[in-house]
Amino acid sequence: MSESFRILVLPGDGIGPEVMEQAVRVLKQVEADSGASFELEYALAGGCAIDAHGTPLLDETMERARAAHAVLFGSVGGPKWEGLGFDLRPEIAILRLRKELNLFANLRPALLFDPLIEASTLKPEVIGGLDLMIVRECAGGLYFGEPRGIEALSNGGKRGYNTETYSTEEIERVGRVAFHLARDRRSEVCSVEKANVTESGLVWREVMTALHQREFPDVKLRHMYADNCAMQLVRAPKQFDVIVTGNMFGDILSDLASMLTGSLGMLPSATIGATSAERYNPAVYEPIHGSAPDIAGKGLANPMAQILSVAMMLRLSLGMTRQAALVEQACIDALADGARTPDLGGSLTTVQVGDAVLKKLERLAAVSA
Ligand code: NAD
Ligand code: IPM
Ligand code: MN
Repeated sequence: MSESFRILVLPGDGIGPEVMEQAVRVLKQVEADSGASFELEYALAGGCAIDAHGTPLLDETMERARAAHAVLFGSVGGPKWEGLGFDLRPEIAILRLRKELNLFANLRPALLFDPLIEASTLKPEVIGGLDLMIVRECAGGLYFGEPRGIEALSNGGKRGYNTETYSTEEIERVGRVAFHLARDRRSEVCSVEKANVTESGLVWREVMTALHQREFPDVKLRHMYADNCAMQLVRAPKQFDVIVTGNMFGDILSDLASMLTGSLGMLPSATIGATSAERYNPAVYEPIHGSAPDIAGKGLANPMAQILSVAMMLRLSLGMTRQAALVEQACIDALADGARTPDLGGSLTTVQVGDAVLKKLERLAAVSA
């Protein structure tokens, strides 16, 4: 009996539906080649859900996410919804999924595919062979800390405030994810914070140091301030194996790291809620980029990050390692043939890149069958 998986598909706004369409084509091809059965359920999330239901994520959609083996998420947001209060915005859809499914570690691999060595804005010798993993804490920190708000001041002005908090437990659980991942890689973790100016950063450093000594002495650990890390990522990115950091720094540093791989449109992600599991269920898979309102509806969006998110889902949530590798190889082969959207210097459309990946995947699946 072939295995059956429930996958909740949330295309979202802007380029989300455009890149998701290509990712779903790839998923259906994998289904046909592998004999596994994917039960795809679609729902609205983000701005489109606000327009249809008055809320970025229906409770019912949240329940379907909880019951699914995995959630494939596109991107949400856009200028249309920018005036809304923070509790009503499209972005709440993804924040709520992370928080309420207790998914605390967002894995963002920055891997340079050989065919793209010339596509990056950095020199080939700086980025050639790059393979780094950013582990971003994503259920705490500045995004969720209380108190937060905007208050009126007596001088007629306003004061906006947020709070960054990190507890021992929150740091240890994401730290364990990073150390475990490192053991299967080059065994090096770089922990990133601002322990020189923030209490939350200081606690982060102390907890990571103790966790390392207690549970992972075989892995190499070093600490770095976030501002230096941003600089080092551009100067000499290959010095890093696994970077572990908080929610806000992880958000920023991963967009930066994406450009080492050629484009923001190349970076997938997996959001998981366990330290080390055979299969992560549920988990959320999404590109790190947003809804790109500036190019939405024009066929210009690079679908690779969304397709590579499918590969991460196959590997981490569905136990389909071989198929995951085939999808990744199909992307590399298509890129080598010049299947590129304008962000990578090419002139193909989103659909044409999808076509190219599918063609490569068909070939690879036939050869490996
Ligand atoms: P963005 O990531 O949407 O776009 C930044 C730049 O990168 C734009 O110039 C865009 O055209 C380009 N870009 C992004 N993805 C691309 C792709 N696949 N192919 C080619 N070019 C691509 O960030 P932004 O413009 O700052 O934010 C737009 C909206 O997206 C905001 O509402 C933001 O909150 C939201 N957002 C959502 C997510 C998510 O849903 N996970 C992530 C980031 C931003
Ligand atoms: C990301 C996005 C989100 C974040 C937004 C849309 C809430 O930028 O996934 O990187 O900041 O986490
Ligand atoms: Mn981001």
